[in-house]
Amino acid sequence: MTLIEPAPTTAERRATHRTVLMCRPEFFTVSYRINPWMHPEQPTDTGMALEQWQTLYELYLSLGFEVQLIDPIPGLPDMVYAANGGFVLDGIAYGARFQYPERGPEGPAYLDWFAAAGFQVREPVSTNEGEGDFLLVGDTILAGTGFRSDAASHDELRRIYGREVVTLRLVDPAFYHLDTALAVLDSAGGPASVAYLPKAFDEASRAILEQRFPDAIHVTDADAAVLGLNSFSDGRNVVIASRAEDFARQLRERGYIPHGVDLSELLLGGGGVKCCTLELRR
Ligand code: ARG
Repeated sequence: MTLIEPAPTTAERRATHRTVLMCRPEFFTVSYRINPWMHPEQPTDTGMALEQWQTLYELYLSLGFEVQLIDPIPGLPDMVYAANGGFVLDGIAYGARFQYPERGPEGPAYLDWFAAAGFQVREPVSTNEGEGDFLLVGDTILAGTGFRSDAASHDELRRIYGREVVTLRLVDPAFYHLDTALAVLDSAGGPASVAYLPKAFDEASRAILEQRFPDAIHVTDADAAVLGLNSFSDGRNVVIASRAEDFARQLRERGYIPHGVDLSELLLGGGGVKCCTLELRR
């Protein structure tokens, strides 16, 4: 008897409950340039950023996520990109140590929040920008380097969490954090558990991704250019940039439910959905 594998349907994609940390963009603007998306000479609209952020926040609540908030601090316009505030796993928060002095004070601010929220905290020794560069897939931490996080921080991750840490080297300045070039769709892991933009990685890293995730989604340049990969998935619902239409199609084909949000104002700072989202894993 031949068993025919049914195509994956939404009914088979199971959401797992998520707790995330976010930061309202009360002081968002673009006043310096630390990535190619940022143009300080162009105006930004903080009210619009707040509205767009609010839509993301409410979408998370409607998906049943628990959303915690950290107070924004005046003079730290990039604090809205909470993903960079640290990496949290097993109830342990590994603090961020930012590459650019403009964001430096965010590191201690987030670390204080983690401590007050009852997480064990680990002071960072090496430069690292938290979940912007570190993504958990199954029992493995994918760790980016090349622009922001130093490869030495990957050793710190190994020591702190005792997990396998796979170093991936980013080569395209537009995709300077791992979470701009790769999305985890299914945190349980598996050959199809991620989506990525191959050209954002060096050859060795592409080979690693190809070998570990032979059934991954490869997104179009157009979808990557609106930070479509900068998305957040609960295993069933995938929150993505609304303009990443082909990515949405590919997700639907594989049984996920894409939810598009427009964060065009926050894109002016070089961030999207995932940048605004830090997962808290107790
Ligand atoms: N302007 C911020 C920076 O360049 C954007 C951070 C985006 N965050 C992210 N997780 N990719 O640092």
